[in-house]
Parts: sequence; structure tokens; C-alpha cells
Amino acid sequence: MRHEATAVDRLPAVAFTDAATAAGNAPSILNTQPWLWRVHPERLDLFATRSRQLTAGDPQGRQLMLSCGAALHHARIALAADGWSAHVARLPEANDPDLLATLVMHDRTPVTMEALRLAHAIRIRHTDRRPVSERSIPEAGLRAIAAAACAEGSLHILSSDNVADLGSAAGRAATMEAGDPQIAAELTYWTGRARLSGAGLPDSVLPEHPTQTTVPSRDFGRPGTLPVGAGHDRAAVYALLFGDGDGPQDWLRAGEALSAAWLTATTIGVSVVPLCGVVEVAATWHTLRHLLAGLGHPYLALRLGIADPEQHGPPPRTPRLAVTQVIDTSAVPSDQL
Ligand SMILES: Cc1cc2nc3c(=O)[nH]c(=O)nc-3n(C[C@H](O)[C@H](O)[C@H](O)COP(=O)(O)O)c2cc1C
Repeated sequence: MRHEATAVDRLPAVAFTDAATAAGNAPSILNTQPWLWRVHPERLDLFATRSRQLTAGDPQGRQLMLSCGAALHHARIALAADGWSAHVARLPEANDPDLLATLVMHDRTPVTMEALRLAHAIRIRHTDRRPVSERSIPEAGLRAIAAAACAEGSLHILSSDNVADLGSAAGRAATMEAGDPQIAAELTYWTGRARLSGAGLPDSVLPEHPTQTTVPSRDFGRPGTLPVGAGHDRAAVYALLFGDGDGPQDWLRAGEALSAAWLTATTIGVSVVPLCGVVEVAATWHTLRHLLAGLGHPYLALRLGIADPEQHGPPPRTPRLAVTQVIDTSAVPSDQL
């Protein structure tokens, strides 16, 4: 009789490798996937990969940390769906700022329906930059997304007055970024033909012309080939991820909140598009800080909405780096993998 491996007899290194593989689906700034997972027999380390940090567009590394935080949350969900609970130490080594987290198996745990739903969402989540439909997100759905984010960090849903302010700030940020030759060169690299294979954005996921949105979407500096309908995202909801501090640990946690919100949104058919330019330009960062009215520091703006059924299905998948470029299993004896 064939014996199927279960969580009970699978070795931690195998579960860690599977979790790191699932985390490869996480969203990241310009699809840079700025992470490296190092698997050990008894622990899993997450490192930042500074060679894939946007030095002009993200000099502080905020967007890199948000991306790595999203990958960390994806790995946590994959472990939970595999029947493991893990202890996570964030930025465990004061003298190694690139070691972002270490996960150690805590115990086996019953697999919940929620963990399975979120693990499935990891496989289908994507960024859809086309306008959303005229349908509003049901209140209960919005509450579920906010609750998921707030279990890991904080999410503030903007009022319509605040959305108008966000729109003009995003417009100003786009103009300032377009006028910065170093940011423009970085964008050209990550969206162009010379980009690292398996990373960056292919034309197929970029709208063929600017979309009609209340808050201007990111200008990628070139048209893509993704067909865009005539819709306007009037029914979209805008929100800000925020928190108490403005340092690496805060951004990492905010990335986990981003993943939690996005995976929950995916399970209920809500599309999410992050908008980071408005946070990275200092002048417009202050506008967002003002919009938060003392609640905290802004990390990322989000557009939420119901994908337009007229658009005939999701956009093509954005590619990913080869597993060997983002997961290092060399510390694990081969009989444990
Ligand atoms: C921190 C962060 C910032 C992002 N900023 C933007 C943005 O400003 N505009 C945009 O269209 N997508 C943005 N994205 C989405 C990424 O481009 C997307 O996740 C990546 O290309 C991978 O594609 P996928 O989400 O379809 O898997 C952002 C994602 C993250 C994690």
C-alpha cells in the first residue's frame, strides 16, 4: 500500500520549502521579488535581497520591506494550511538588518477552512490594473478585508473627501516621479526587455492606455497590451495601510497586513491594486499623513473594487523568478528534502 506523507511525518524542512515556494506568489513592488528564503533543517530564514531594491524609487527600502512582509505572511498561511504553527521572530539580529525573519516550527495544528481558503487565494491572487465595475463592495466584504488587515496592522478606509485629496496627491506624485530621470530609468528597466528574467512587468499586464480612475493609477511610462474597457472605477474604495512607526519592522508588519487584506479580498472576489508612488514622494507622503489625522504613518494606498465582468477574466499571470533564485536549501541534508 502506498503511504502518503502527511503533516505528521513530513520533515519541517520539506514544509518550509513548500511554504517558501508558495510565498513566491506574493505581490512585490514592480515584481522585483526582493527576497531570499534560506531553509535549514529546523528553521526558515527570510532575507532581503538588496540587489533587487529600487534604489531611486524606494531609497529607504519601505516598498522592499512591504513586499517581503507580504511574502512572510504568504509563508505563514502556507504552513497553517499544511498543519503547522510556526513561531516568527522579526528582525531577530540587530547586527544583520537583511535577516528579516526567522520561522521555527512551534507545533502541529488542525487545518482550518480559513487557512485552506487563504492558501487557495495565494494561487489565484493577482494585480488587475483595469477599471473595476460599477458594483459596490458589500459592506460585510469591506469589513472582512479591514478585519484581516487589522489582525496584522492597520487599514483606514478613506471618505470621499479624502479620496479626492488622495487623487490630487497621486497626480502630483506621478508628475514628480516622471520628472526624475533615475526613477524613470529604473521603471524602464523593470518594465523593459532587458529586465531580469522572471521578474518585472511584461506588457501583457500593463493597460494598453491610461485607465479612467478617480485616483490616477501608476504611470509605467509605456503602454502595455492589456485591453482596457471604457469603464470608470467610480465604485472603487480607497484605503491606506498605516501604523505607529516608520521603520523597517513597521513596514514588514504592514506587508503582512497587505497580504492578509489581499488574500481575504481574493476569497470574496474583490480586486486590490496598491498605489505606492504617493507614499514615496516626500511632499505627497505628508498629504497622506495629514489625511490620517493623527492615526499614524502611511505605508501604502490601496484601491479596492469588484473586477469588471465585462473584462472577460483575469489578466495574464505576472511571471516569477526560478525557485532556485529565491530559495536556498543548501543547508539541508538531501535525505531531509
Ligand atoms: C509594496 C507594493 C507596492 C506596489 N505598488 C504598485 C503600484 O504603485 N502600482 C501598481 O499597479 N501595482 C503595484 N504593486 C503590485 C505589483 O506590481 C504586483 O504585485 C507585481 O507586479 C506582481 O504581480 P501580481 O500581483 O499580479 O502577482 C505593488 C505591490 C507591492 C507589494
